[in-house]
Amino acid sequence: MMTSMNQRPIAICDLDPDDRSAVLQAAALLRAAFPDWMRTSEDALAEVREALSPDYTCLAAFVNGDVAGWIGGRPEYSHAWELHPLVVRADHRGRGIGRALVAALEERARDARALTLYLGTDDDGPMPGTTAGGIDLFPDPLAHAIGLQAIDHPSDFYRHLGFVVIGLIPDANGPGKPDILMAKRLSAP
Ligand SMILES: CC(C)(COP(=O)(O)OP(=O)(O)OC[C@H]1O[C@@H](n2cnc3c(N)ncnc32)[C@H](O)[C@@H]1OP(=O)(O)O)[C@@H](O)C(=O)NCCC(=O)NCCS
Repeated sequence: MMTSMNQRPIAICDLDPDDRSAVLQAAALLRAAFPDWMRTSEDALAEVREALSPDYTCLAAFVNGDVAGWIGGRPEYSHAWELHPLVVRADHRGRGIGRALVAALEERARDARALTLYLGTDDDGPMPGTTAGGIDLFPDPLAHAIGLQAIDHPSDFYRHLGFVVIGLIPDANGPGKPDILMAKRLSAP
């Protein structure tokens, strides 16, 4: 149990697939944060259900009994987990919940002997969120990855937490809208 900056207790635990209210709240959070990706409530619910499937870890942060954020992750390689997705409710952001959810997933992945946690974070907004957005990344995407700077983008949040840029998928979401790949070492090999 931790407390937010305004001292409300935050509890992080596995999201219970049988807790219908929490599952619906998790879906609503996802849809609110990613309206272009989650076009319908059913899309969002399907994404939560996928994160609740047996090979995933799905953790939720509760404040006053309500879902204030949640995170999913699963092993994609023998020693590397993918973090996907992560969302904190808009009115609870900036209080350490995102950091706590990532730390909790890191702990689970470490316990499962993962060495690396990785993720993709899209730069697909109407305006470029990073120096890699809105431009042609070829012929040298790696040069753009090495010099990547956030303008206004969650990649900066992940950098705060110790993730580094490991690559880019050019035009992943349309021309000039790359996916930024980031990773963090969990344990020394
Ligand atoms: C990104 C997100 C998960 C961050 O959650 P949060 O609870 O607001 O983050 P925290 O309060 O735990 O912040 C942890 C640290 O990161 C920093 N941080 C948070 N968001 C940041 C951002 N967008 N850019 C730069 N730094 C950021 C905080 O200042 C804090 O730094 P500090 O510990 O040195 O003070 C949240 O803003 C969110 O849900 N956004 C919409 C969905 C999204 O973008 N998900 C990730 C897609 S890959």
